[in-house]
Amino acid sequence: MRAEQAAPSHYTGDKSEYVRAMFAGIAHRYDLLNSVLSFTRHKAWRRTAVRLAAPNLGDTVLDVCTGTGDFAFDLLRSVGPGGYVVGSDFCAPMVSIGKQKADARGHGQVGMMVADTLRLPYPANTFDCATVGFGIRNVADVQQAFREMARVVRPGGRVACLEFNRPTNPVWRPVVGLYERHVLPRIAGLLSRKEAYEYLQASIQAFHSREELTEMMKLAGLGNIRLKDLNLGSVCIHVGSKL
Ligand SMILES: C[S@@+](CC[C@H](N)C(=O)[O-])C[C@H]1O[C@@H](n2cnc3c(N)ncnc32)[C@H](O)[C@@H]1O
Repeated sequence: MRAEQAAPSHYTGDKSEYVRAMFAGIAHRYDLLNSVLSFTRHKAWRRTAVRLAAPNLGDTVLDVCTGTGDFAFDLLRSVGPGGYVVGSDFCAPMVSIGKQKADARGHGQVGMMVADTLRLPYPANTFDCATVGFGIRNVADVQQAFREMARVVRPGGRVACLEFNRPTNPVWRPVVGLYERHVLPRIAGLLSRKEAYEYLQASIQAFHSREELTEMMKLAGLGNIRLKDLNLGSVCIHVGSKL
């Protein structure tokens, strides 16, 4: 089963619609569940991804599949008062929570908008870097998403992808598998919709390998691809530069 196909049994074919409706249903609990299920580690993983994406002070940067915008706010710290961050996502209820955060602490430098990563509404060569956090596994066409991210970044700009993957460590792999299959959906069921977190496990298992993601980034016109594993390889960051 490929990542683009991973979904529960009642899934009928349009992954984009399925994913959009699923995130709309859990939007109000999304931030809480992220912290509970990752033991708050998701914050450190995003910060590491921002460091590797290496935005400079004053840069204009894009975070796609931004959800409630946490990655966008980490980027904001790096671009400083002269910079600007756009966060885009196709799920309006997730973006609406991100907009509330932008109003409260975006200093007028974070724009949150509803947009499809597979058809980004920005001209080519607009941004100094583009990031995606825990989003690429959810898009209906991973190659097209990388193509779009590469298109809107200027030559020399970076594209960074932070995503769950299957752990490389043979001891850790079954432990993570047990946690994702049995513990995570039960905790999620108490606080949110269990089904969304069963999809999380299925989509991680079916997702592309590190090597396949590297190849897709190259095909999208990115070079100098670097990889960093976190959490004993259950989380992986890919960063490439537009050629
Ligand atoms: C797991 S959330 C990640 C949110 C955020 N980036 C984070 O780090 O917490 C995945 C997000 O991808 C979004 N998404 C999936 N496919 C998309 C697409 N084609 N275009 C825009 N957003 C998409 C979903 O709406 C959801 O908000």
